[in-house]
Amino acid sequence: MRPERIRVVPRASPLTARPFFLQGGMIVDGERSDTFYITTPIYYPDNRLHIGHTYTTVAADVLARFNRMCGRDTFYLTGTDEHGQKIQQAAAARGLSPQVFLDEMVEWIKTLWQQLGISYDHFIRTTDEDHTVVVQAIFQELYQSGDIYRSAYYGWYCTPCESFWLESKLVEGACPDCGRDVSWVEEDAYFLRLSKYADRLIAYIEAHPSFIQPEIRKNEMLSFLRQGLEDLCVSRRKEALQWGIPVPFNSDYVIYVWFDAVCNYITAIGYKDPERASMFARYWPAELHLIGKEILRFHCIIWPIILMALDLPLPKQVFGHGWLTIGGEKISKSRGNVVDPLVLAEKYGRDAIRYYLIREIPFGADGRYTEEALVDRINVDLANDLGNLLSRVTAMIDRYDDGKIPAPTGPPTHLEGVARAAREKAERALDRYLLSDALRGIWELVAAANKHIEDAAPWNLQGEARDRVLYDLAESLRILAVLLSPFMVDAPREIFRQLGLAEEADAVQWEDAEWGGMLPGTMIDRGEPLFPRLDPDVVLQANPDEIAEQGEERKGMDMIDFEHFSAMDLRTGTVVSAEAIEGADKLLKLLVDIGEDEPRQVVAGIAEAYSPQDLCGHPVIVVANLKPAKLFGVESQGMVLSAEGPEGLNLIAPVADVTPGSKVK
Ligand code: MSP
Repeated sequence: MRPERIRVVPRASPLTARPFFLQGGMIVDGERSDTFYITTPIYYPDNRLHIGHTYTTVAADVLARFNRMCGRDTFYLTGTDEHGQKIQQAAAARGLSPQVFLDEMVEWIKTLWQQLGISYDHFIRTTDEDHTVVVQAIFQELYQSGDIYRSAYYGWYCTPCESFWLESKLVEGACPDCGRDVSWVEEDAYFLRLSKYADRLIAYIEAHPSFIQPEIRKNEMLSFLRQGLEDLCVSRRKEALQWGIPVPFNSDYVIYVWFDAVCNYITAIGYKDPERASMFARYWPAELHLIGKEILRFHCIIWPIILMALDLPLPKQVFGHGWLTIGGEKISKSRGNVVDPLVLAEKYGRDAIRYYLIREIPFGADGRYTEEALVDRINVDLANDLGNLLSRVTAMIDRYDDGKIPAPTGPPTHLEGVARAAREKAERALDRYLLSDALRGIWELVAAANKHIEDAAPWNLQGEARDRVLYDLAESLRILAVLLSPFMVDAPREIFRQLGLAEEADAVQWEDAEWGGMLPGTMIDRGEPLFPRLDPDVVLQANPDEIAEQGEERKGMDMIDFEHFSAMDLRTGTVVSAEAIEGADKLLKLLVDIGEDEPRQVVAGIAEAYSPQDLCGHPVIVVANLKPAKLFGVESQGMVLSAEGPEGLNLIAPVADVTPGSKVK
């Protein structure tokens, strides 16, 4: 039978109506609503997801779990963005049909989320039949109302970003967002009248200061809007792109992938579906679209304008968080610096990954990812601070009280106040989406409880005095298990279990963090350390067996880490022309096509091994980000790779045909 709890303080719902006014995150102009609809971006499944995608999804999961624990009717949506050129190309590269390719990728993504304990309520795929039908209905409606019209598009397209760009917005001829090559598009098309709504959107953003957060992102969006908005091309011709939702009234066209994608936020909850009308009414407008800062424009300009055109309310907040970086660069597939979250979760456990991501990166700002910092967090915060606290307290209760929680007689300790403060800090921070601050607040209780063990030295106490200390420590741990429940999946459960409260874990509510919930007499059940300490020298070796096999040769070699390697921009290229340089017997001046508008001029010390006429059309690998230097008065804007062979120098070239400009990784 579940014991009645002692409630020293009467339960007060954290949802007790009270006004919130904010800097940081959540807007609540008045009271919290009783529903909480939160979304992540729907990710492109053209590749496996990485630790960056995991960051957004874990952060949204923390907020969903917290709001559920507060008794709010919560709906957490994530999913995949499955149309567009990028997916079409990725499937073709694998020699698979898009649908087969996507099904495989989605399976992997769902496994990833399951491993990480992501508690989404629905996983939308934009190839879902009901999504497709509603997107077509929306397109049709806006065409009929005149907000979508037909005209001609002349401009550029960035496939990795799936973005249209006017010539004037390109930066040195490349995509202003990702810096990659764009392709020319010239076709009859359908346009969305962004220009018509620009002033209304500016006024809306000004009147709703928390609509776009953090503040800096709001200002970016406002200045973008104030430069004037061009209407947006929202279709592609079938010849250019087959993998999309057909324009309902013209089968020569498919709908632009971003138009299709943003609509997921309403199609997933039953927009225009008579059978789910009440669901839509309950959850829309969403409380929060959590996204990375690079896709703010789509969420703060295009999406709100579609909603305005449909006469629907706008989401309450779009929060554009920062990026996880490695060596100062955004982690992304195209930069080749990705970290596989599944591998990490298997190696370190999901709670450690979840904790690290949320604790390490101040929410909203960019944050450096390093495995060293992850291991450090595990050893210090989780093993040493939290794990040891649990081991020490349960060991003492075992020893002094035969494993039974003692009754809290004697004067109360200060831990009750610290626990209340920790809960309030965590709650305030979570309400404002200041996730790392919430953990910092919770760790004040961890630290205070550890310090209390040292200060009170229960081993020197007896009777009521010792009972009080041990009760307060056990109660602090119970409260920690409650407060950590949004952030971690297994550790809170294990704390409850070791405290003899296994059943509590199933239905834990935020209000259970009220002091006094631990019933004296409860039998604890000691267990393994919560987070075993790791030896950095062992775990940070990429693959110790492999390295050992390399034997003696590597000893004494200066090793670099991946960050150093990825700082080098190596590209494939083709020599377009080669000529001798006057006065320099060993050098040749090469022009090399590396996929840029102009060939690169590279001076190479290969004249003794190659004659200029042999070099035209020769494939090479170029260090593209080497600082330019002058050699014999000729500027060299890079370097070609070569290696010494038995008969002299050889240029290094890819064995298969690759397009000039491909990244070597
Ligand atoms: N399909 C679009 C989103 C459509 S939403 C209607 C898309 N997909 S994506 O696969 O490229 O995912 C982008 C999102 O992944 C970012 O907005 C962010 O949430 C997350 N991240 C990807 N790389 C990241 C980092 N390096 N750091 C933090 N988040 C990152 O854009």
